[in-house]
Amino acid sequence: MRPLIKEILLMKPDTEPRTVYGWVRTKRDSKNVCFFELSDGSCLKNLQVIVDKEKYNPESILAKLTTGAGLEVDGMLVESPGQNQAVELQASEIKILGEAPAETYPLQKKRHSFEFLREIAHLRPRTNALGAVTRVRSAASFAVHRFFQERGYYYVHTPIISASDCEGAGEMFQVTTMDMNEVPKVDGKVDYSKDFFGKSSSLTVSGQLEAEIYALSHSNVYTFGPTFRAENSNTARHLAEFWMIEPEMAFCTLEGNMDAAEEFIKYVIKYVLDNCAEDMELFNKFIEKGIVDSLKSVVNSKFYRVTYTEAMKELEKNADKFEFKPSWGVDLQSEHEKYLTEQVFNGPVIVTDYPKDIKAFYMKMNEDGKTVRAMDVLVPRLGEIIGGSQREDSLEKLTARIEDMDLEKEDYWWYLDLRRYGSVPHSGFGLGFERLIQYMTGMQNIRDVIPFPRTVHNAEF
Ligand code: 4AD
Ligand code: MG
Repeated sequence: MRPLIKEILLMKPDTEPRTVYGWVRTKRDSKNVCFFELSDGSCLKNLQVIVDKEKYNPESILAKLTTGAGLEVDGMLVESPGQNQAVELQASEIKILGEAPAETYPLQKKRHSFEFLREIAHLRPRTNALGAVTRVRSAASFAVHRFFQERGYYYVHTPIISASDCEGAGEMFQVTTMDMNEVPKVDGKVDYSKDFFGKSSSLTVSGQLEAEIYALSHSNVYTFGPTFRAENSNTARHLAEFWMIEPEMAFCTLEGNMDAAEEFIKYVIKYVLDNCAEDMELFNKFIEKGIVDSLKSVVNSKFYRVTYTEAMKELEKNADKFEFKPSWGVDLQSEHEKYLTEQVFNGPVIVTDYPKDIKAFYMKMNEDGKTVRAMDVLVPRLGEIIGGSQREDSLEKLTARIEDMDLEKEDYWWYLDLRRYGSVPHSGFGLGFERLIQYMTGMQNIRDVIPFPRTVHNAEF
């Protein structure tokens, strides 16, 4: 395979000519020489190419060396007199593989707004910031798999199409092959028996319930895949399609679950700091000043752990600071999460034992009958990035919860079977991958950390 620019930049000067490929980023002209920067996306830095105008035919080719043009360049790697690079390429032959006319190519300015770039999602990976996000996202995905694989977890592919609503929140996208103009009905209701699967089905909101099946045969498993939520919330932290990592562990209680979540987050952050130093420096300088030091200190410190009840007491003491008044029983609003992580604890915090009425049906009931063994990991700037719990493993209690919450018991027959046969304590959590990328890069809007964001009224690319 041809060496990439990130490798070439570390090489010694050439003794033989070589061929390099990439796209033009910027060009500078002086009387006798033309300099341009070549990128192939392999790193933030570009390869500087020097063209001697006297030796080279300038009119035909040099005019076409515009930002965005795709090139094949022959030349010798030589020691660079400049301060910014050790080596540069002295070009002897340039072939324009694909032109990018300056009159129409949209990426001309040095910095475009992220809003503008969202409208050209097919070109934005060619910018420095989105290019860095792409590399960090890829490295973080690798770290996710490495973390679990090193620890003996099995990667399970849970289904995308599902007939059960894991979170019981009804925020699901329906999947159907029925003709929307002629929906079959019986007694005024849609007749799903005529639909493709013979029943109502949707895109999954979480792979958890299926991951539980495999945890109860293979002890420790994880899923890492796309999940879908028809949430009508137009925020900088919500997507309709996002990627979630969900480990599920048998013979594990809430304490083990918290330990795993903390170790996991720190591992991925450390991996990205160690392996994406150059890209992280861009975020540190231009996106969120000081983020590298703050992430380093996260890796080296212990996450605070508080119960919901304790956290609520803290919030109630400062009730005047909030638009939504905190009181026991209400869900934590993002302003509350921000206050806890930024003012009270100044770092990540794990909140546990939430009131049962604001959490999903599958969470294990505490002795008090009022709270459940839930845990949310909250971080500064973003709030919740992980939601998890110990699962209810008693058939009796789980059945009662499903009935209490008016869910269809028949839909969960197999889930209840797991409590009928070999039920053991087990726990797991879900990490929103895009929220983690936001946390690590400082990118303000979740739409800029996923290649093709799907949000309300937006699925263009
Ligand atoms: O807290 P949630 O809803 O938990 C679950 O789905 C559990 N079944 C997970 C489990 O225990 N296996 O979602 C988990 C995480 C959230 O903490 C958040 O980071 C992310 O998924 N998330 C979203 N990310 C982007 N856009 C959305 N609309 C999101 N909804 C949740
Ligand atoms: Mg949650």
